Amino acid sequence: NVTLAVVGGGSTYTPELVDGLARLRDTLPVDELILVDPAAERLTPVGAFARRLLRAQDHPAKVTTTADLDGAVERADAVLLQLRVGGQAARAQDEAWPLECGCVGQETTGAGGLAKALRTVPVVLDIAERVRRRNPDAWIIDFTNPVGIVTRALLRAGHKALGLCNVAIHLQRTFAELLGTRPDELHLDHYGLNHLTWELAVRQGGPDGPDLLPGLLDAHAARLAEHLRLPQPVLERLGVVPSYYLRYFYSHDQVVDEMRNKPSRASEVAALEEQLLAMYEDPALTRKPELLAKRGGAFYSEAAVALAAALLGGGPETGTGSVQVVNVRNDGTLPFLPDDAVVEVPARITAAGARPLPAPPVDPLYAGLIAHVAAYEDLALDAAVRGGRDRVARALLAHPLVGQYDRAEALTDRLLAHNTAHLAWL
Ligand code: G6P
Ligand code: MN
Repeated sequence: NVTLAVVGGGSTYTPELVDGLARLRDTLPVDELILVDPAAERLTPVGAFARRLLRAQDHPAKVTTTADLDGAVERADAVLLQLRVGGQAARAQDEAWPLECGCVGQETTGAGGLAKALRTVPVVLDIAERVRRRNPDAWIIDFTNPVGIVTRALLRAGHKALGLCNVAIHLQRTFAELLGTRPDELHLDHYGLNHLTWELAVRQGGPDGPDLLPGLLDAHAARLAEHLRLPQPVLERLGVVPSYYLRYFYSHDQVVDEMRNKPSRASEVAALEEQLLAMYEDPALTRKPELLAKRGGAFYSEAAVALAAALLGGGPETGTGSVQVVNVRNDGTLPFLPDDAVVEVPARITAAGARPLPAPPVDPLYAGLIAHVAAYEDLALDAAVRGGRDRVARALLAHPLVGQYDRAEALTDRLLAHNTAHLAWL
């Protein structure tokens, strides 16, 4: 049986994960869930609610809450990372100052995403080092953004880690609904980098099944476009389905206009979190509140449980050997990227880790952008690990949404000014 440690366990997302553990107990039989968080004011109510959620569903797992990371990871089979350095306050800044330079302000894309990477990578590497020292066999599953860069940092440092995102599983659910079929009937040819992916095919029954994507686009382009918040002609032009993060590229200037005229996502999320925490404090609440669905992490629990089960499980009933979308070292999967890039692709998951399926050819229409952002991620990781204004400026200059010298410099100044409290090298 399994012990899971969740770093950032005081997150308002944790009940989503716990609800998944309860529903999917046959896939992943968890004995103990250790929620690790330095913020007691969040951890205490979230932990108490997690216990009520499990008890209400007759789940036997024990929930432990602690600030002691070393003690927690010592007995964990897998360590899930879902922390946020600087909280929603830092995110609010990431979403604001890029707009001053005419660039999208977003927690993972563009200059804001670089700021998040710079704050996060050193913290995650320190945690991973402690996991390795205490418990070298444990798997690290990273949900902390920016997942592509963070996973690249973990793998470069030789950790036993995979990166996870819910974009693919969410799209799989959306496609299944439109096609009137079960999600597990659909295999996605999902290719690219974290938050920069395209569904190149939607296959029925498995990786070798017939492609339903052309028919899906013919019948449902309008609904898909609405779901992705992209103009419908973009889907027709591409002939494949991009993730909704591609709107920050394909509709960049329009999104910047929108963002200048409405409250930031960070402020929305902060308000939601306040409401959620108040609800979690109510001893009568024993079910996941509807309100949680307003966060972006829908189906995160499904993806996390499936991945942990396949990594830790013994037999096929736990999904060992199944194909799941993960963030993993490229190693030739996308031949136009360096081996040490981290790609988000379907891979076969066993106790030995993730082995990507052979990828189909990727149209230059997407391959160019993937290669461009992968090069930025390399420079971003260099800046995060070694610090220095020059390295930050180089990463920004290399980003396809920045590119111009003056803009890269102006963004660099703002990034540094807003992150003095978080960057040790400043
Ligand atoms: C999706 C992404 C996550 C991201 C989240 C943001 O789930 O895959 O990586 O963290 O959206 O959601 P939020 O509710 O924080 O805006
Ligand atoms: Mn994600």
